[in-house]
Amino acid sequence: MSAVPTIELRPAQDADRDMILGWRNHAAVRQASFTTHVIAVDEHAAWWSRVAADDARQVRIACDGETPVGVVIFTERDGGADWSFYLDVDGLEARRALLPTWIATEVATLDHAFGPAGYTELRGEALARNSAVVRLHERFGFTVTGEYQREVDGEPETVRRYSLTAAAYRKEVPA
Ligand SMILES: CC(C)(COP(=O)(O)OP(=O)(O)OC[C@H]1O[C@@H](n2cnc3c(N)ncnc32)[C@H](O)[C@@H]1OP(=O)(O)O)[C@@H](O)C(=O)NCCC(=O)NCCS
Repeated sequence: MSAVPTIELRPAQDADRDMILGWRNHAAVRQASFTTHVIAVDEHAAWWSRVAADDARQVRIACDGETPVGVVIFTERDGGADWSFYLDVDGLEARRALLPTWIATEVATLDHAFGPAGYTELRGEALARNSAVVRLHERFGFTVTGEYQREVDGEPETVRRYSLTAAAYRKEVPA
């Protein structure tokens, strides 16, 4: 496994749009998502325009130096934000860097959320069977705040909600 890189989050630009679609359509990301079909170019373009027009949505590209490695999406609400992310699975697997980059992206996300963005809480959701994600979040101090059932492509799935407050984060990572 490679060393854990330092990841920076920069604002996404229109030039990033097609790259993100390739990442979102990777089988491993679709398996972890609430819809698993391959997203078409038009569908993605419509989503991109909707997100760009929504002041509550902040899309950031996770970069290892000059190399984009993933996307982090914040949806701001009530002083906090809902958070989702996915990585360039193919590129990172080829460089044997998937796990360290995942860890580093989580570090960068928390630093951004509770630093410059000033969120009071970061909330997320993951499929309960996606145990690697849930375990990693718990290691960063997230707690599971609830569960609900939803259909994913017609099949019932358990979704776990998790949350980390700025106060709890600062206790773990003093400034
Ligand atoms: C993986 C993950 C990002 C998937 O999220 P998602 O299933 O796309 O759900 P979101 O809430 O982001 O999407 C909301 C809607 O936008 C749609 N959407 C998301 N991305 C889209 C895109 N690029 N183009 C078009 N539609 C899109 C979704 O289909 C969904 O539509 P709906 O509201 O009509 O159901 C999210 O579950 C997550 O962060 N999980 C934990 C981290 C993880 O496992 N990451 C993957 C491993 S690398």
